[in-house]
Amino acid sequence: MSARRKLVAGNWKMHGSRSSTDDLLALLVAGLDGLSCDVLVCPPYPYLAQAHTVLQGTGVVLGAQNLSEHVEGAFTGEVAPSMLRDVGCTHVLVGHSERRSLYGESDAIVAAKFVAAQAAGLVPVLCVGETLAEREAGLTQGVVDRQLDAVLQVAGVSAMRQAVVAYEPVWAIGTGRTASPAQAQAVHAGIRAVLAARDPEVAAGVRILYGGSVKPQGAEELFRQPDIDGGLVGGAALVAGDFLAICRVA
Ligand code: G3P
Repeated sequence: MSARRKLVAGNWKMHGSRSSTDDLLALLVAGLDGLSCDVLVCPPYPYLAQAHTVLQGTGVVLGAQNLSEHVEGAFTGEVAPSMLRDVGCTHVLVGHSERRSLYGESDAIVAAKFVAAQAAGLVPVLCVGETLAEREAGLTQGVVDRQLDAVLQVAGVSAMRQAVVAYEPVWAIGTGRTASPAQAQAVHAGIRAVLAARDPEVAAGVRILYGGSVKPQGAEELFRQPDIDGGLVGGAALVAGDFLAICRVA
């Protein structure tokens, strides 16, 4: 049993409204008793301040889904790291596959966002993962190692003490096709080995989450794997009962 406390994070993506955010959070807060994991929710930007108010004193921490790598300036439409702290965020997703594929975020941009997040006192959740084509070509570990190394090159391995890693195979995101516990564990172990080669203590302490069609059915076996320290949940995070069921087995 690892000393790492499990973390279950909900990535709400571009879903919700002011009222649905209130409703979802009310159901979530009502079901927190008895949980033995940490809980993080990542609503869309417009609802962060509202969520922070609702979550005050509950122990649930708040995260954003993205951020600018710039501190401030003429970057229309962007959100600065300090602004996320202003509205109560402690965490921020960095390099989600949808940011990489739909918005062209390169490994270098992801690394810059990781550094900017930490400079503002945010805990980055670094998302890595391969496409189906890359997996079928046997490139999975190489892709994940490349994405991780891009951050280690600029931030250094010690920065991982204040970070979380999320392995999200692209082919499992939103597809209902969850990676098997063995598939996920193999990549998680590979990620931890990359970190251990630089600093065994840091590697032992960093939490590595699995994301990609995490559902109440199957979550427990995933979380039982030695290098899986929780989940990064998308669709199931929008249903309080499902998200809480996943938290209960973490
Ligand atoms: O960031 C989590 C997300 O990418 C996973 O989505 O719907 O497959 O749980 P989903």
